[in-house]
Amino acid sequence: MKVEFYRHQLGAAELQSVEQTLQSVFLTTGPRTAQFERTFAEWLGGGEAVGTSSCTAALHLALSALGIGPGDEVIVPAMTFIATVTPVWFVRARPVLCDVDPATGLLDPEEVKRRMTPRTRAVIPVHLYGVMADMKALAQTCRERGVALLEDSAHCIEGSRDGVRPGQLSDAACFSFYATKNLTCGEGGAVLTRTPSLAEHLRRLRLHGMSRNAAARHSGPFAHWDMDELGFKYNMGDIQAALLLPQLPLLNERLTRREAIARRYEQAFSALGVQVPSVPQGARSARHLFTIRIPDGGRDRVAAALPRMGVGCAVNYRAVHTLAYFRRRLRHRPEDFPNALRFGEETLSLPFYPSLTDEEIDFVVGCVEQALIAS
Ligand SMILES: Cc1ncc(COP(=O)(O)O)c(C=O)c1O
Repeated sequence: MKVEFYRHQLGAAELQSVEQTLQSVFLTTGPRTAQFERTFAEWLGGGEAVGTSSCTAALHLALSALGIGPGDEVIVPAMTFIATVTPVWFVRARPVLCDVDPATGLLDPEEVKRRMTPRTRAVIPVHLYGVMADMKALAQTCRERGVALLEDSAHCIEGSRDGVRPGQLSDAACFSFYATKNLTCGEGGAVLTRTPSLAEHLRRLRLHGMSRNAAARHSGPFAHWDMDELGFKYNMGDIQAALLLPQLPLLNERLTRREAIARRYEQAFSALGVQVPSVPQGARSARHLFTIRIPDGGRDRVAAALPRMGVGCAVNYRAVHTLAYFRRRLRHRPEDFPNALRFGEETLSLPFYPSLTDEEIDFVVGCVEQALIAS
């Protein structure tokens, strides 16, 4: 048996949707993008969505639109994907790494308070693996200090915590539609914000800072466009939007299947004494990644053994401060963020997608058990 790390579920509905776009005038940001933005924002309970080429681009745009720049500090967790942090450098601000909760890997609001200085301008919590950070606590701290709050929601569309969903308590939430995400078009992203002026600014910045996009030029009377601000080329196109639209009505049903898979994995791994990250009280995980913890240096041996047995796996992630570029630039010692370090040394992601069968889940568990015995 072979169980890939990820299998997408794009099929007939997406083909038909893309075909419709190919038969229309617009391939770039046009009516399908606008339709996706409306539907996505509605799905998340309100606000305005701005489609982008990736979540990395979305974070870069949001930091730029929030006016974060040289001399500013931005607090980010040390346990995340590099793309949470690199946009802080893109705007020439300084990332201030922060340790995470040892059980969940999420940004610890108390630790965030300790890392704040008069130069702190933004905090970027990451909803790691689909579980939301404590947005109520973080929003209160940020509000009290006049600091922007920007969610890295690359892993979390469907999740909630204490009745709060992504984008509801922050200035903006950034999403990823990368190839392995719960909602995917291969490459894509979005920013969701409840501040209309910010949404308008993001729309301008994602397209060179131009005053009119192609759709407006196509449908309206002739008028020159202008540019009075330096922008980027980060817009979502209609082909990507066409791929995304048919998936939105299926997100809940797919989440139910992901939850059932997680329960089956959790029962099996608890019988084997293998630890899985905990979901905090009051949180509903978007169930993006299913991870286990393998301590005492065993993780890398298991990660090497699983593909030989036909099981795909991944490490999400080694703590960012241990990576070469970060070491050179920030000069942290590994033990500066002990929880993130340990999490990054122990975490292993297993195959996790709605089309995974019970037989395949049991096969994966059996392979992990064998790999653990051998390691
Ligand atoms: C936590 C996190 N943030 C940001 C990103 C960047 O997303 P994208 O590939 O859409 O730029 C990813 C991508 O995997 C991610 O996992």
